[in-house]
Amino acid sequence: MPRRALLGHLLRLAALWLPAPALCASPAPSPSRTLVWGLGLETHAVLPVRFFFIQAVDKAGVNFTTSPGENTFEVKVVSPSEPFSRIWVQLLDRHDGSFLVRYRMYASYTDLNIHVLLRNKPVAKSPYILTGSVYHESCDCPESNGALWEKYMRCPSSFAQIQHDLSVFTRVDLDRNAEEIPVRFGQRQSLCHYTIKNNQVYIKTYGEHVGFRIFMDAFLLSLTRKVTLPDIEFFVNLGDWPLEKRRAPGKLHPIFSWCGSNDTRDIVMPTYDLTESVLETMGRVSLDMMSVQGNTGPPWAEKNSTGFWRGRDSRRERLELVKMARANPTLMDAAFTNFFFFKHDESLYGPLVKHVSFFDFFKYKYQINVDGTVAAYRLPYLLAGDSVVLKQESIYYEHFYAALQPWVHYIPLKADLSDLLEKIQWAKDHDEEALEIARAGQMFARTHLMGDSIFCYYFKLFQEYAKLQVTEPKVRVGMERVEQPKDDLFPCYCHRTKVKDEL
Ligand SMILES: *[C@@H]1O[C@H](CO)[C@@H](O)[C@H](O)[C@H]1NC(C)=O
Ligand SMILES: *[C@@H]1O[C@H](CO)[C@@H](O)[C@H](O)[C@H]1NC(C)=O
Ligand SMILES: *[C@@H]1O[C@H](CO)[C@@H](O)[C@H](O)[C@H]1NC(C)=O
Repeated sequence: MPRRALLGHLLRLAALWLPAPALCASPAPSPSRTLVWGLGLETHAVLPVRFFFIQAVDKAGVNFTTSPGENTFEVKVVSPSEPFSRIWVQLLDRHDGSFLVRYRMYASYTDLNIHVLLRNKPVAKSPYILTGSVYHESCDCPESNGALWEKYMRCPSSFAQIQHDLSVFTRVDLDRNAEEIPVRFGQRQSLCHYTIKNNQVYIKTYGEHVGFRIFMDAFLLSLTRKVTLPDIEFFVNLGDWPLEKRRAPGKLHPIFSWCGSNDTRDIVMPTYDLTESVLETMGRVSLDMMSVQGNTGPPWAEKNSTGFWRGRDSRRERLELVKMARANPTLMDAAFTNFFFFKHDESLYGPLVKHVSFFDFFKYKYQINVDGTVAAYRLPYLLAGDSVVLKQESIYYEHFYAALQPWVHYIPLKADLSDLLEKIQWAKDHDEEALEIARAGQMFARTHLMGDSIFCYYFKLFQEYAKLQVTEPKVRVGMERVEQPKDDLFPCYCHRTKVKDEL
């Protein structure tokens, strides 16, 4: 201990004496040329956790591509009218010269000032002033103009998957669905029947295992606090597997599911896992699309050049995967952390290994993504890291898979994994190409899988679906209201509507 501590001490002393640049291999970022951008600098982009980005740029205008140091920038989010702002700010170093700044507000404020500082000097156009009412997540204050809200959120004008899913439904007869869907699926499946009327959420559940409704409830409440939804009525499938197997267009029932497949006609939504992580970022969950960006392990050149996988035995191909890894330990490290579905055969698929923190996956260059019960819901997080993803071809998909391209965003694997070893070997032999694919996948995740995109997707889906309804959405017999949580501690005054219930 003493040697290292002493050295550190001497370096700190030296820092007091030497002009700063002499200590750094690369020059410090320039406060004026450094870039700051993102939705988190906008008053009206209300999100559970708001976020923006900093790209370090040097005096010559060249982007940093490695970290200028974790504590290079300082960010303060303050309200001029409130000396004790209840705002939690985090800077995540993405180790590529850029930072993700996220903040969760526990109350609403009038005018918010965001200071981005580098050694006490303002960076770029800092301070950023968010003028007017800056609402926090639990403020029930929907923007009644959906088009305006989409503009605030910079939503894309369309999503190909939504168009694809809805194209088979020319007209949605809600009265017919309300009768037929519970009869057809309500006995054996777990379903929620939702109605949104005057931006209030109503529900009736079918089936025994309806615990997962909490994810959908929470998201619908969050969305209706932000924007006024059209009146709609729809069924959500709470199970893993998509349900609608009919082919004849006139007979199809619209079922909203978290996973789609080539064999079914369910309307796919962002998974409950991704949705929950958007709502609970800097809250109940620790793995989310932002935290993962600050925890991508060592730089590419220092990552272990081995294929990596951990998980449970929820599909036969996963057994194959582990068997292959045991036979080829130099190419692949794949092991079960849990046995649940198949016979516990230690001699073939064991031994079980200890759970590995997800962030530690990124010590490895090659991330293997194999279906579980349905699509493996870890894919968004794997893409956001800076490893390359090897993804099994599959009939199952999430809402964003159609926008992913093999060999651009990931390396494809045959459905039966017969080319897995060959593909890992390819990646080892083509390190630059593999890195390029890793970067493209990461860029895709950073651009399309963050909270703003998830809110936009759901809104667009509900809006497009509403256009197909040919009967009036109704609060049906047996439905109950899903109430907004009471946030008495920090009430907000909503300035958007003239008439509003008492706070
Ligand atoms: C520098 O980084 C910014 C932000 O990521 C990016 O838009 C820009 O294209 C980069 N410039 C160069 C020259 O790579
Ligand atoms: C790379 O990972 C494999 C499998 O986990 C391990 O056996 C090997 O020792 C690691 N190599 C290095 C250089 O750390
Ligand atoms: C599923 O359908 C898509 C789009 O038609 C197709 O590209 C893909 O190959 C299909 N996947 C499988 C495994 O059948």
